[in-house]
Amino acid sequence: MLNVTALYRFGIKPIVFAACAAPAALMTLGILAAVGKIPSSPMDLGADPVDRLLHACGIPALNMLLITLLVTPARMLTGWSHLLRLRRMLGLFAAFYALAHFVVYAWLDQGLDLAAVGADIIKRPYITIGMLALLLLVPLAITSTNRMMRRLGRRWQKLHKLVYLVVLLGVWHYWWQVKKDIREPLLYFAIFGVLMAFRAYRAFRVKSAPATAPERT
Ligand code: HEM
Repeated sequence: MLNVTALYRFGIKPIVFAACAAPAALMTLGILAAVGKIPSSPMDLGADPVDRLLHACGIPALNMLLITLLVTPARMLTGWSHLLRLRRMLGLFAAFYALAHFVVYAWLDQGLDLAAVGADIIKRPYITIGMLALLLLVPLAITSTNRMMRRLGRRWQKLHKLVYLVVLLGVWHYWWQVKKDIREPLLYFAIFGVLMAFRAYRAFRVKSAPATAPERT
C-alpha cells in the first residue's frame, strides 16, 4: 500500500508545485511572445504589459498567501494533518510572486530609479502598504527552513504569526489600488475575515477548555 509520505512526495507535491508554477510559466511565455522570441503565447500582455504583469504576479501572491492560511483550518476540519506538508511550498511561492511583482514595478514601471521608487513608497499609501507587506514576508520566507525552525524554537511560531498581518496588508493594498469595481478585494477581505474568525474561535476554545488531567503513572 502507498504510504502518505510517498503519496505526497511523488503525487500531491509535484501537482501542487506545477499548479503554483503555472502563472510564472504563463508570464514567461507572455514576455517571450511580447519581445518576439516566440510567435504566440497563451498569455497576451496586451496594450499595457506592465499592468498585465503586475496583475499576473500580484493576484497569485495574494491567492497563495490566503491558501497558506487556509491550511490550518482545513487540517483541523478534516483531520488531515498531512496537509501541513504543503504549507511551506505555498508560502514560498507566495513570497516568490510578491518579489516578482515588486521587480516588475521597480524595473519595468519605475526604470530601476530607486529614488523614484522611494518617493512613490512615501507618496502613495497603497504602495507603502504593499512594501510593508513585502518587507514582512521576506523574513518569513528566509526562516521557513527546518534548520531555522529548530534554531528559533518557540520564537519561530511567534515570528510566523506575522503572516496574518502580511495578508491583511496585501488585501488592503489591493483594495486601495482598485479604481472602481471593489467586488474582488471585498471577496478577499471576506475570506480573510472568515479565517480570522476561525482563528479567534479556536483560541477561545483552547483557552476555555478544561485542563487535561495529569496522566496516572
Ligand atoms: C505581499 C506583497 C504584495 C501583494 C500580495 C500585492 C498584490 C497586488 C495585487 C493583487 C494587485 C492588483 C493587481 C491587479 O488586479 O491588477 C497589486 C497591484 C499593484 N501593486 Fe502590489 N502587492 C504586493 C506588494 C507590492 C509592492 C511591494 C509594490 C511596490 C513597491 C506593489 C506595487 C503595485 C502596483 C504599482 C500595482 C498596480 C496598481 C495599478 O494598476 O494602478 N505591490 N498588488
